[in-house]
Amino acid sequence: MCGIVAYVGHREAYPIILKGLKRLEYRGYDSSGIAVISDEIKVYKKQGRVSELEESLLGVHLSATIGIGHTRWATHGEPSDRNAHPHLSQSGRISMIHNGIIENYATLKSELVAKGYQFKSDTDTEVLLNFIDDIRENNECSLEEAVRIALKRVTGAYVIVLLDEENPDTLIAARKGSPLVIGIGKNEHFLASDASPIIEYTKEVVYINDYELAIVKGDELILKNLGNEKITPFVQQLDMELAAIEKGGFEHFMLKEIFEQPDTIFDSLRGRLDLANADIVMAGVQKYIEELKNANRIIIVACGTSWHAALIAEYIIEELCRIPVEVEYASEFRYRNPIINKGDVIFAISQSGETADTLVAIERAKEKGAIIFGILNVVGSSIARISHAGAYTHAGPEIGVASTKAFTAQLVVLALIAFKIAKEKKSISEERFIHLLNELSAVPNKVAEILQNTTEIKRIAEKHADATSFLFLGRGYNFPIALEGALKLKEISYIHAEGYPAAEMKHGPIALVDENLPVLFVATKDAYHEKVISNMQEINARKGKLIAIVTDGDTSVSELSQDLIFVPEADELIAPIINTIPLQLLSYYIGVTRGLDVDKPRNLAKSVTVE
Ligand code: F6R
Repeated sequence: MCGIVAYVGHREAYPIILKGLKRLEYRGYDSSGIAVISDEIKVYKKQGRVSELEESLLGVHLSATIGIGHTRWATHGEPSDRNAHPHLSQSGRISMIHNGIIENYATLKSELVAKGYQFKSDTDTEVLLNFIDDIRENNECSLEEAVRIALKRVTGAYVIVLLDEENPDTLIAARKGSPLVIGIGKNEHFLASDASPIIEYTKEVVYINDYELAIVKGDELILKNLGNEKITPFVQQLDMELAAIEKGGFEHFMLKEIFEQPDTIFDSLRGRLDLANADIVMAGVQKYIEELKNANRIIIVACGTSWHAALIAEYIIEELCRIPVEVEYASEFRYRNPIINKGDVIFAISQSGETADTLVAIERAKEKGAIIFGILNVVGSSIARISHAGAYTHAGPEIGVASTKAFTAQLVVLALIAFKIAKEKKSISEERFIHLLNELSAVPNKVAEILQNTTEIKRIAEKHADATSFLFLGRGYNFPIALEGALKLKEISYIHAEGYPAAEMKHGPIALVDENLPVLFVATKDAYHEKVISNMQEINARKGKLIAIVTDGDTSVSELSQDLIFVPEADELIAPIINTIPLQLLSYYIGVTRGLDVDKPRNLAKSVTVE
């Protein structure tokens, strides 16, 4: 949520920051701005996309070798030029960008107002900035010292980066709860919310931890804690290629990421699925295998699409491992005083590894003695760092705001974990275990098969693109896929959509069905198939417009609908991974037909670092 980027070194800062903002735009895109120091601090801000900022700066002389930039997802204050970052302190001496929320900003603001401060924006950021400047003035101390004092009074989450007119060669940065990575170049440093703006300049990076302060010059990086003690930076090598964050000939990142899935799913399986020895090799699982197989229960916390992956994991783990599973929305779990016992196992599922609700939920659970197991995509992310163990999903950077390839990678990794626990627990027969391994290894090819010909999905999408509402139904393992299909459509096309268990539909939502309502069934062959067909009959009898995802060769529903999407046959535990692909494509094509920006849907941001 919000992207920040900063540079200090020997090159022109503006082009580096502008390019970085474009890379980070998926984190928020309602306004953006940059500030540089050339003689004095100059701030330029604009409501709208980064391209609008760029346009407004054509012809402006911006020569400087130090600067900060920000692309915003509004929290305090509407999207507007004046609420855009960077902010400038009342004295004009310091400028700041911020990602996060200052929860006690109202108290700080009233103290400052009493001292005569006036505010130009509605943001919590401007409050913190002037609070820092006020401390510096009253204590006649350095900006670094003022930041340290100020942060001891701040509650909330932040990454901040400050420019100081009196020290035009130094950036000051600090973090708590929001991500910050520093790239180390030759006599230059790059600061950003994630590695995407840094990757083309250097692969050496330092991930900043909570309560750390960075004092950054071109040729020097000093890290300190809030107690002013120096910390040795831990330099890591980025395992990411530039091509992974570019569109590579596709019209949108979302489409590119949908089409990457045969490869990303293969990458999630690579080195783990050992067909020759009929085994699954996962170091993180092995390390905690006793705790996992003897767990009295597993709690899974997640948000959004990752929460849908959790629901499928619940079904698989309970079926194969006979361990009770509870699936929790992280935002509810963190506040509702849940019962957590020492030794409880908590899975945290998150693409970004930065989702604030998930992060805080597991921090609390960890304090109570739970074992935290992260299923995460972003290596080195905040959740990764506080988990006891885990498994990365290896989907690569996901730039499209709506999650696609990260979701299928989560499903693959969760299936692997469940199969492994079941094998170790001996709650699965050897035969079924080997069958499921073979089924998993076949997924990349089956996904590729669907992607080879998307004409029919596109036709169905265009036919229903004007719908005002949609219903997605499924049973068993396909119920969470119906939820995910509905979420994707809402995000990408702004069409109201609901996901429901197909049988539950008659307890209420069936009242919505008329000749205008498209009702999509995820109806591949499984234990519920006949019952799902009965549910389809119920919709048909009420003239709903039926669309169905069905198994190749299944003719049992051809009389009910002309809008059929065929997918390769798979075991019912594995089918959700495959059935997701047409739903992603359907949303994508409906969004594109409606002329929407599918990569950056309104009001959304990729990494939700505020609660
Ligand atoms: C939906 C989507 C969101 C995320 C949710 C959790 O397409 O992307 O619902 O799934 O914000 O994000 P992570 O997985 O990063 O914790």
